[in-house]
Amino acid sequence: MREHSAQTIDTGVITLSQQILDIFRRRNGEIVSGEELSSALRISRTAVWKHIKALKTLGYTIAAVPARGYRLLASPDTLVPAEIAAGLNPRRIGTKITCFNETDSTNNVAFKLAEAGACEGTVVIADAQTRGKGRLGREWASPDGVNLYCSIILRPSITPVAASQLTFLSVVAVARSIERSTSLKPMIKWPNDILINGKKIAGLLNEMSAETEKVNFVVLGIGVNVNMRADQFPSDLRHPASSLFIEGGVPVNRTAFARILFHELDALYDTYLEEGYWAIREEWVARSQMYGRQVKVSCQERVMTGVVKGIDDIGALLLDLDGREERVLSGDVTIL
Ligand code: BTN
Repeated sequence: MREHSAQTIDTGVITLSQQILDIFRRRNGEIVSGEELSSALRISRTAVWKHIKALKTLGYTIAAVPARGYRLLASPDTLVPAEIAAGLNPRRIGTKITCFNETDSTNNVAFKLAEAGACEGTVVIADAQTRGKGRLGREWASPDGVNLYCSIILRPSITPVAASQLTFLSVVAVARSIERSTSLKPMIKWPNDILINGKKIAGLLNEMSAETEKVNFVVLGIGVNVNMRADQFPSDLRHPASSLFIEGGVPVNRTAFARILFHELDALYDTYLEEGYWAIREEWVARSQMYGRQVKVSCQERVMTGVVKGIDDIGALLLDLDGREERVLSGDVTIL
């Protein structure tokens, strides 16, 4: 386990190392003199050098050009909180970001943090998961350094029954992020899958702590197959799966993707709190292409075949079973 090598950023507190990185980014690969860094940050040249050394240990490639200064050549390939947070201006989601090289499941970590009082909007990310959790007790394949595995803590003032609405919010955010990062056309499959060309690209697993009338917190767990190669998928998948890389043919920058996703989630969560679920439901419907389609739904021991009529105000799937309406709260859907 490399769990101990977590890095955290509180986006309200900008460290000196982050300020150095911001200057490098603004200068777009140019050499920045030690003198300029030292006067911008009001620290000694020796302190600048110490921060540059610390950044190198975090995986940044920084060249020291004799008598001229420093140049940022490359940022690390691993997911780093400061890189993801650069340019994010979150109201809630992303105010605190923690990245692990490896953990069992980001949902487990986020759940424990939430129980210990972590604030709303805290994000937990891992480069690899050893026990990634999927829906219905399945495993979520989580190989190292290729995908996005993240969990977000929310503390909305809603009833437990309304918590499923948050699934719709997160799935819409993932769909928007894929469209902003690639030229691919994602489609939503109820309740929380994202398909491209009929293959699963992303899944969501929300977990909650609640009392009878009140949600204490919800953990939104999001897994996106970003750059996974065909040989990295398990051989016993129930539904065909793929990645943005396989479908689009070009690798997608995971840091940029994560930044876009947290931005979209933050905006949609704000809409949800201000205007409610219906504002988001419309976009879900427009992206789902499930209405009027014939589907097979497996729900524990039961298998039903019917036509999709809609989703209701708590997100249940409404099916027409030969003239009789059935409300499905959870299950595995196959579009026929
Ligand atoms: C599904 O079965 O479709 C849901 C998959 C959810 C996977 C994500 S990856 C990040 C988070 N941590 C987990 O252990 N699971 C979720």
